[in-house]
Amino acid sequence: MTTEGANRAFSSGPRLNNGITMPWIGLGVFLVREGNEVIHSVKSAIGAGYRSIDTASVYGNEQGVGQAIRESGVPREELFVTTKVWNADQGYESTLKAYEVSRKKLGLEAIDLYLIHWLVKGKYRETWKALVHLYQEGHVRAIGVSNFQIHNLREIIEDTGVVPAVNQVEYHPRLVQRELLTFCREQGIQLQAYAPLMHGHLDHPVLARLATKYGKTMAQIILRWDIQNGIVTIPKSVNPERIRQNANVFDFELSEEDMATIDALDEGLRYGPHPDHFNR
Ligand SMILES: NC(=O)c1ccc[n+]([C@@H]2O[C@H](COP(=O)([O-])OP(=O)(O)OC[C@H]3O[C@@H](n4cnc5c(N)ncnc54)[C@H](OP(=O)(O)O)[C@@H]3O)[C@@H](O)[C@H]2O)c1
Repeated sequence: MTTEGANRAFSSGPRLNNGITMPWIGLGVFLVREGNEVIHSVKSAIGAGYRSIDTASVYGNEQGVGQAIRESGVPREELFVTTKVWNADQGYESTLKAYEVSRKKLGLEAIDLYLIHWLVKGKYRETWKALVHLYQEGHVRAIGVSNFQIHNLREIIEDTGVVPAVNQVEYHPRLVQRELLTFCREQGIQLQAYAPLMHGHLDHPVLARLATKYGKTMAQIILRWDIQNGIVTIPKSVNPERIRQNANVFDFELSEEDMATIDALDEGLRYGPHPDHFNR
């Protein structure tokens, strides 16, 4: 692919329900240390063509993400930055404050996508109202949620009439959230896959066979499957070579049959906590 073609692929992506576009692939920075490690990872990713970064206040690395963005030399408007309100900050007023803290740490005028990180019982509905306020006042380009299930999505939509632009959930070949995906598609909510690489537990005979067939890595097979399923994906790596390789997924296409084969690997297996049992 030409450099121009690669750049187009990196910035291409689905149009969210408020009309803005988000890249198909981004760099995740969960468990990436603040300071040199995150600065180096984000710069490697931007240098390799990534235009989207996914952080969260609880990751403790927003400052480094912001520094790397500023030093990357890529114009701010070409980048898409996501962060999330942490559980301890949920509630209406405290979410508004948390947004400002994150925004300042990142050193940005506005965040592209602000998400509710997890459901905090008794608070997430107020937290969503605060996100709606931030959006309606023009402070943030898009708002969404993470780890929300169908009934939680219904509640916040009913409360405010505002449909989240994105729902970021655990999604990979061993956890194919069919019902949730169908609901999100019907409602115009973009699904975003976290832990797409199953935290590095990639070893699977079917993925290995497909990797050989397409001359790609198992990680690339999964990330291509995400995109062909219409799902935005955010693999994490601190290794520049893997960062580069992971995003090299725009020059091949999985057949319909192979897409179905990967869909069929579903075991309902989570590497992270179930939203019903986390931090309630
Ligand atoms: N909203 C939420 O609740 C939530 C929860 C979890 C994650 N997330 C977001 O989603 C992002 C991705 O999820 P994740 O970080 O949990 O897991 P992941 O992306 O599925 O896996 C990351 C692991 O895979 C390894 N890896 C990366 N590329 C590889 C390759 N090509 N071959 C083999 N191993 C590879 C990484 O090691 P190296 O770094 O050494 O390459 C790391 O150990 C996070 O960083 C975060 O931004 C959100």
